[in-house]
Amino acid sequence: MPVPSSSVKLTILGGGGFRVPLVYGALLGDHAEGRVSRVTLYDTDADRLTAVARVLEEQGRGIADAPAVVVTTDLDEALRGADFVFSAIRVGGLAGRAADERVALDEGVLGQETVGAGGIAYGLRTVPVAIDLARRIARLAPHAWVINFTNPAGLVTEAMSRHLGDRVIGICDSPVGLGRRIARVLGADPDRAWIDYAGLNHLGWVRGLYVDGRDELPRLLADPKLLESFEQGRLFGAELLRSLGAIPNEYLHYYYFNRETVRAYRNAEQTRGAFLRDHQEGFYARMREPGTPALDTWNRSRAEREATYMAESREVAGAGERQESDLESGGYEQVALALMRAVARNERTCLILNVRNRTALAALDADAVVEVPCLVDANGAHPVAVSPLPYHAVGLVTAVKAVERAVLEAAESGSRAAAVRAFSLHPLVDSVTVARRLADRYTEVHPGLAYLDRP
Ligand code: G6P
Ligand code: MN
Repeated sequence: MPVPSSSVKLTILGGGGFRVPLVYGALLGDHAEGRVSRVTLYDTDADRLTAVARVLEEQGRGIADAPAVVVTTDLDEALRGADFVFSAIRVGGLAGRAADERVALDEGVLGQETVGAGGIAYGLRTVPVAIDLARRIARLAPHAWVINFTNPAGLVTEAMSRHLGDRVIGICDSPVGLGRRIARVLGADPDRAWIDYAGLNHLGWVRGLYVDGRDELPRLLADPKLLESFEQGRLFGAELLRSLGAIPNEYLHYYYFNRETVRAYRNAEQTRGAFLRDHQEGFYARMREPGTPALDTWNRSRAEREATYMAESREVAGAGERQESDLESGGYEQVALALMRAVARNERTCLILNVRNRTALAALDADAVVEVPCLVDANGAHPVAVSPLPYHAVGLVTAVKAVERAVLEAAESGSRAAAVRAFSLHPLVDSVTVARRLADRYTEVHPGLAYLDRP
């Protein structure tokens, strides 16, 4: 059914989330015909909705065409009539993320929210909820496009795609950010460069960057100074990058430097999840006090959050503080806006997105959700052909996809054996004994995993 172009309605699931003002800020900069005219924020937590709505209200002050904001804790009401649904939920909250990290670290393995044991635990909790949401969207808003931000984004998008087909598209700002930084250090216009990037979410590599049909990446790889002039370059170091002949997504640091990162995480005063849990509790608590300047308070909190992103990994790498260009925002929300514009107005563009593979990556089946460049138009996101993955990447990508499939199986059948298999098969879990204990411990600490009771 065609959407009348002047009344695009966006619903954000997880609308009380800390990063919602980024999205709203991007929408405020869009004045063209067919822009979003109403934003519905849905959340299970009314308190958080109130806090975020206050920030948005201040953001929109004085802007005549600012999208109207509606808040609700009624999911069905939020979904009905939506043209776009952003899904940005956090099952178990940041306390859950902190617990994911703690349990893993106590077993001597990594507990990052998307990578390793922590990502599996988070996936096991999130997939059943995401599937319910997908079913409900298919029923109540069958024409809506669903943009999934919920981590682990690739896995969650694949779970939802089983019910929504290609109407769900997963997004992440990391590959786009990486491509833009590389273009910039090469002196190229990021909007004219073709980024040959492929993999899974948080598990991909830039293998080439083309300007006027010429691959400029070899020029970067040949220049150690240039290589270490941007965040991912410093994180991995010129030597590794030259030997790989590619620039990995920053999340590959957890694989390539796993032992050191686990050690740094164990020695850290707080894990990332625990830091964010306290940090965000502080933000929402301040927002409950009358007279708190909403936008100012949010801006300050956001700067603190961004400055500490991947701090342990940077410490391991000796990469130092984040620089101005590393902190530059414009990633996450701009990708979301560009995607929505392309779909709503047929503004054809190319974005790196999480979609069903079809034949983009030969090592994976057609329904596997992968992260690759896509042509986006009013018909959705179409993956384009990329260079074949080298064997080292095929190895990681297929191993992690097998883990994701085990998580999906566990979530759909309630099979504990499948959950144990997911932990066992992960390249960063070094023993089946550890995998079994992880499954036990996670089930103990997360009520949301009580469904895993079948052998
Ligand atoms: C990057 C990742 C996202 C992640 C975000 C915040 O942009 O691609 O998936 O949500 O960082 O990470 P943080 O550790 O601050 O929650
Ligand atoms: Mn991401």
